[in-house]
Amino acid sequence: MRFPRRRHAWLLGRRAAKALLRQVIPGQPDPAEIQIENEPGGAPFASISGQRLAGCLTISHRANFGLAAYTAHPAMQIGADLELVEPGSPDFLNDYLSPVELEIAARLPESERSRWMFLAWSAKEAVLKALRIGLRADTRSVELLAPAAAQPGQWTPLCARTSLPGAQDLRLWWQTRDNLVLTLAVIQSMDALQFHGLDADLPA
Ligand SMILES: CC(C)(COP(=O)(O)OP(=O)(O)OC[C@H]1O[C@@H](n2cnc3c(N)ncnc32)[C@H](O)[C@@H]1OP(=O)(O)O)[C@@H](O)C(=O)NCCC(=O)NCCS
Repeated sequence: MRFPRRRHAWLLGRRAAKALLRQVIPGQPDPAEIQIENEPGGAPFASISGQRLAGCLTISHRANFGLAAYTAHPAMQIGADLELVEPGSPDFLNDYLSPVELEIAARLPESERSRWMFLAWSAKEAVLKALRIGLRADTRSVELLAPAAAQPGQWTPLCARTSLPGAQDLRLWWQTRDNLVLTLAVIQSMDALQFHGLDADLPA
């Protein structure tokens, strides 16, 4: 990696992912035994002592912060994102937010508008990461439907919808920490749903 900024971000993400996996993987593997790699499309995955870890890992980095989330659940895809809320009006986001989101932004007091716009942007990235497609999809195909209030440091559900295939069962959460917004998207795959028949004589 030739660019120090990219190297720094890459390391922050790896550090967050390794710290998390160390806590949740049985046997608490040594960080040096954990390898974080990327699929050709960019999505991260972990290997422990050369063996690919099942489940879904997601990473984000911004400024001096790294965020990682992991689930071992075979039917869940997750995506996490971290954004720094910058002061002033983030006009560059106008092209990426949906008409509904822009309408909500316009109604908010100026003090809340910037955070809302970065939150909407972050939520899109989280969903697009959960789907493993990243910014190859139209960001307006994921939208937040209502203004959001959160207790600092606490995951709070968001009201959202998407027209993207494969994301019908979408749940989104967010939290604030100082001038950061964190989002987490969880998509439960209906393909993995299993029906178990009950062959028994039921009482009439
Ligand atoms: C994924 C993406 C939305 C990340 O947005 P970002 O705000 O720039 O960066 P974040 O710090 O929040 O996330 C970066 C991490 O997302 C993860 N990521 C990258 N592509 C991903 C994908 N398709 N699906 C899920 N996660 C992905 C990686 O772990 C990456 O960190 P790493 O490269 O250090 O491992 C965006 O970079 C993207 O869409 N990339 C793919 C599109 C692209 O770059 N195409 C170029 C030609 S193929």
